[in-house]
Order: sequence, then C-alpha cells, then structure tokens
Amino acid sequence: MDGNPINAHGGGILFDHNTYYWFGEIKSGKTIRVKEDTSWENFRVNAGGISCYSSHDLLHWKYEGLALATVPNDSSHDLHPGRVIERPKVIYNQITGKYVMWMHIDSRDYSYARAGVAVSDNPAGPYTYLGSMRPNGAMSRDMTLFKDTNGRAYLISTSENNATIHVNELTSDYLKPSGKFKRILIGLNREAPAIVKHNHKYYLITSLCTGWDPNEAMYATADSVMGHWTPKGNPCAGENNLKTFNSQITFILPVRGMQGKYIFMADRWNKADLPDSRYVWLPLVFQNEKIMIQWVGKWRF
Ligand code: GAL
Repeated sequence: MDGNPINAHGGGILFDHNTYYWFGEIKSGKTIRVKEDTSWENFRVNAGGISCYSSHDLLHWKYEGLALATVPNDSSHDLHPGRVIERPKVIYNQITGKYVMWMHIDSRDYSYARAGVAVSDNPAGPYTYLGSMRPNGAMSRDMTLFKDTNGRAYLISTSENNATIHVNELTSDYLKPSGKFKRILIGLNREAPAIVKHNHKYYLITSLCTGWDPNEAMYATADSVMGHWTPKGNPCAGENNLKTFNSQITFILPVRGMQGKYIFMADRWNKADLPDSRYVWLPLVFQNEKIMIQWVGKWRF
C-alpha cells in the first residue's frame, strides 16, 4: 500500500478473521555465490527473517512488519543472517489458540537441513522461535504445512538429500512431529511442495531440484495425506509449461467465498540479484481430477 515492492519470497498465506496474511522470506542486500560450493550454483543473500503482509482482497497489501526477526549477534543461532531461513508457512491451532509457523532452516551450504518452528498469539506475529529439528531423524529442506479439515496438520518436506518427500504428521499442538510419517514420491527428486484439498482428494504440486533455475512442475494425487501419492504429470499447459512459466511453485491458495477457485503462487527467482525475484500468480483450475494452470498476462476471478 505504501508503494514498496512486497518482500515475501518462498511464501505462504494464512486466512484468518477475513484477512489474508502473506508470510515470506525477506531478501535484501547483495547476492553472492558461495565459493565453497562448486558442485552447484549456490547464490545467496543474508537471511533477512520473515515478513508479513495483510490483505482483504488479495490486491491491496499492508506491511505488518517482521513476523520473525533474525538474531544477528549469535553466529551459532538458527536465525543468524549467515544461515538460510526459507519457505515459511503458518497455520492456526484451535486447541492452543496459537499461530504456528514452520520453515526451512539451513546452514549456508544447506547441509544442516532442518525444520524450524515458531509460535505467536497473533496472526501477524511477532513469532517466538522454538528451535529446529530433523523430523523423525530425517533431513528436511523445502517444505510446506497442511491443516486438514479434521484439524490434523502435517509438515511435508523434501528429505533424504532431496530424493524423497516425507509427510510428517504433527502433534495436536502442531509443534512437533508425532512420530507418524510416510515417504512419498520416492526417489523422484521433488521439492517446493504445495498442497491443496479439493473435493475430498489431495493434490501436491512440486518442482524438480535445479536450485534457483526453473524446471518442469509435477502434481500427484492421493485419497488421504498419509496415503499413496500417484504422480500425474505437469499441471502447467501452454507456452513455457516445461519451465513452469519461469517460476517455481510455493503455495496453492484457496480463494475464500469462491468454491473450487485456487491461485497458483510461485517465485520467479533472479539468482544474480535475489532481492529482485518476482512473483507469479495464476488461476489454478480443476477439470474433473486434473489440474490446469495456464499463463494469462492479466486476470481476475
Ligand atoms: C531451490 C529451493 C529454494 C532455495 C534454492 C537454493 O531449489 O526450492 O527454496 O532453497 O534452491 O538454491
């Protein structure tokens, strides 16, 4: 609303009290390439913490401030700017009355591979960081959160060195993995998971692992979150569909009051200047049990 670009990358949206809250990675400062990592293009900026923006109509956004701040004076802290804080997602816990944020926490060479958790009494924060873990002892990188209609919640993250996704059921307070988990899309090297439930079926869109470079998205379907996930192919159609329209999925947003209408939210990363990365939002529609995402330059539901 104040004319500044939105700084909320790898984001996710919480809908609460008729308001959309967009959480994302703050990327600012100079982009550098991490020299020690020669096997892949590890471009990074210092972690800037997690931002929050609010909106009533998805068009006008108000900056709510830092939802989760970095800890600059302790280099061993998970939230030190020299670390990686990515893909924050927030859900509300009915039992505790707390807002729960999970995020990908990593070292600058991505070998730490953990999931971090934070809580707040208010949707926009500030959030109190509780710590990080390897869920069920396994690596955890790109992730999303999913709260099912029955109140059960899951942390879905890329594990086993990016080979296999793990669906981790969370405890009833959403603060820890319950111990029940399932390996899905085994050996398919998928990341950037985003999930939606539509007509009693679950849909998970993921990208391939090619760093900041775009690749072909894939979706899979299941009858239950912890059930069997079947790969279905590329949900994107039309020109540039093999590169997801030069973007990488981050979230699927159900539009309130419009049943069956969803927004595909993605990041168009600029690896040479990461703060200049942009957002791609497109209508996501279902044709029976098939997802269809097409490029449209200008649109409105
Ligand atoms: C991507 C991942 C991003 C970020 C990036 C680092 O594959 O989806 O969230 O971690 O790698 O290169």
